[in-house]
Amino acid sequence: MKKFLVIGNPIEHTLSPKLHNYWIKNNKLDAIYGKIKTYEKDLPELCKNIKDGNLNGINVTVPFKKTIIPFIDILSGHALRTQSVNTISCRDGNLIGDNTDIDGFELSIKKLNYDVSDKIIFILGAGGVVSSIIYALMRMKVKKIVLTNRTKEKAENLKKMFKDIEIMEWGKISNFDMIINATSVGLKDSDKFDLDFSKVGSGKFFYDIIYQPFETEFSKAGNMEGNKIVNGLSMFLFQAQKAFNIWHNLEPNIDENLIKFLMEEI
Ligand code: ATR
Repeated sequence: MKKFLVIGNPIEHTLSPKLHNYWIKNNKLDAIYGKIKTYEKDLPELCKNIKDGNLNGINVTVPFKKTIIPFIDILSGHALRTQSVNTISCRDGNLIGDNTDIDGFELSIKKLNYDVSDKIIFILGAGGVVSSIIYALMRMKVKKIVLTNRTKEKAENLKKMFKDIEIMEWGKISNFDMIINATSVGLKDSDKFDLDFSKVGSGKFFYDIIYQPFETEFSKAGNMEGNKIVNGLSMFLFQAQKAFNIWHNLEPNIDENLIKFLMEEI
């Protein structure tokens, strides 16, 4: 039986095992997918387990997408460019680090038929997934990306990777067509944004990376007539579909039944 894991900390909220095990069952594969709360000191051992064949693949989530890199032998182009790995597999004895967040984000936008080209994008946050989002947006030829983060240094580090982005002080709101919440604010019901969205106007697209809870503070803030609101479920599903494809060489279905099944827990 093949064994897969998602590693991260916190890990309680993840829907990855439920999703991958659903696809494993539907495709009649002999495999199992679990989750493990991980600390940085565990990373070498986990990687060794893949090399030794005790594990067949790992999904990496917050906060290890970057810190896992020294233990990987070969990075895909996407992982290299963003310095972010979310999917690990083993080929010919080498650990391969992939980044499926980029395609996940891009597919989620395409599915909505929202044309980002020529749009101004305002990103809140500078955590592990943001380099993938910036990279995907640049590939989709957006007009401008403005980024703000509570800790300015992290925003500036991203600017070193992506010279064309503009950094804004935390607390200020840029002019934008689409705003992306890539902070962890909203994961807990008690979380509140200290940003004022009341004057941003209508016709805006509010995209929250968070999908659990389904409706967050951020999505409530954007919930005004004429605005478009989306949460991170679609990105989550598409990044997982790509990871599944890397490991099992087949593309699993995303349909209403699957979404209903996952939503039972959200
Ligand atoms: P990591 O930073 O370890 O990659 P993450 O969950 O991907 O973790 O990122 C958390 C993001 O949410 C960061 O941008 C963080 O801002 P800081 O860099 O200042 O920590 C942001 N964040 C978390 N709590 C926040 C809060 N209460 N207000 C504003 N931003 C917050």
